[in-house]
Amino acid sequence: MYHRSVLLSESIEGLAIQPEGIYVDVTFGGGGHSREILKKLTTGKLFALDQDAEAIENRIDDPHLTMIHSNFRHIKNFLMLYNALPVNGILADLGISSFQIDSGERGFSTRFEGELDMRMDKRQKLHAGQVVNEYPEERLYEIFKTYGEVDHPGKAAAMIVRARKVHPVKTTGELVSLLKANAKRGKEHKYMAQIFQALRIEVNQELDALKELLTQSIGMLDTGGRLVVLSYHSLEDKLVKNFFRSGNWSGEIEKDFYGNALVPLQVITRKPITAKEAEIAENPRARSVRLRIAQKI
Ligand SMILES: C[S@@+](CC[C@H](N)C(=O)[O-])C[C@H]1O[C@@H](n2cnc3c(N)ncnc32)[C@H](O)[C@@H]1O
Repeated sequence: MYHRSVLLSESIEGLAIQPEGIYVDVTFGGGGHSREILKKLTTGKLFALDQDAEAIENRIDDPHLTMIHSNFRHIKNFLMLYNALPVNGILADLGISSFQIDSGERGFSTRFEGELDMRMDKRQKLHAGQVVNEYPEERLYEIFKTYGEVDHPGKAAAMIVRARKVHPVKTTGELVSLLKANAKRGKEHKYMAQIFQALRIEVNQELDALKELLTQSIGMLDTGGRLVVLSYHSLEDKLVKNFFRSGNWSGEIEKDFYGNALVPLQVITRKPITAKEAEIAENPRARSVRLRIAQKI
């Protein structure tokens, strides 16, 4: 299977779909969420984006669907081009799909041998090999610390810099053999997953893209329109949580002269929705998911 969708019914319910409405799935992937949205539309439309050409090849043949091969940070321009604004709902299922991680040659997985690539969009220049072999030690340290929440990030950065003076670190396997010894015994997989997550976030500029998406969403949603986001690590979830609450990254609510809260969204999920044990047993990817829903005021 290309990708097993996470919290499928919960996220579709969160969109509160109007059959004649306009919806956007900004992370098409294997099209699991898009397929469910399409089932609920009569005269409505769905726009689906993905920055990965291979995901775009999974297109669904449906007259109500328009596929867009792009990073979702450009979403508003595309929807303006298609005369599709305002929209009734936006869905983002962040991160990578199983297909991407299972294609060893794409370099996302600690388990498979492949070039250090990690680009979701192959048209982009920056790849993980460059980050590992060309970034200064201090930047590697920052990336491991902030994006990977890695223990002793300085140690990993220093080991990479020492090794690459002798020979560039070219493959996922070389990186794993180099850094594995840093992990606590029995925690090698978790440690390497954090290192890879940090590199992937840097290569794809994932947090910046998410911020741009959230900021633009306010100007794209119709009043009462829904914003549904599934995130898979705390850095993403914190951005989503704060933005839903306050419309900014700090989470602090601004008030007007009369003390009224100046917020663009109403939070529907006070606490994030997580996956039940049964779903996690079938799909381990669901373990870390946090689903948050908000509505444009
Ligand atoms: C978790 S998968 C989505 C799975 C999908 N919901 C399904 O049910 O099959 C995430 C997808 O989003 C894409 N993606 C991640 N960040 C993106 C971005 N900034 N712009 C466009 N696509 C992105 C990835 O290429 C991947 O295909």
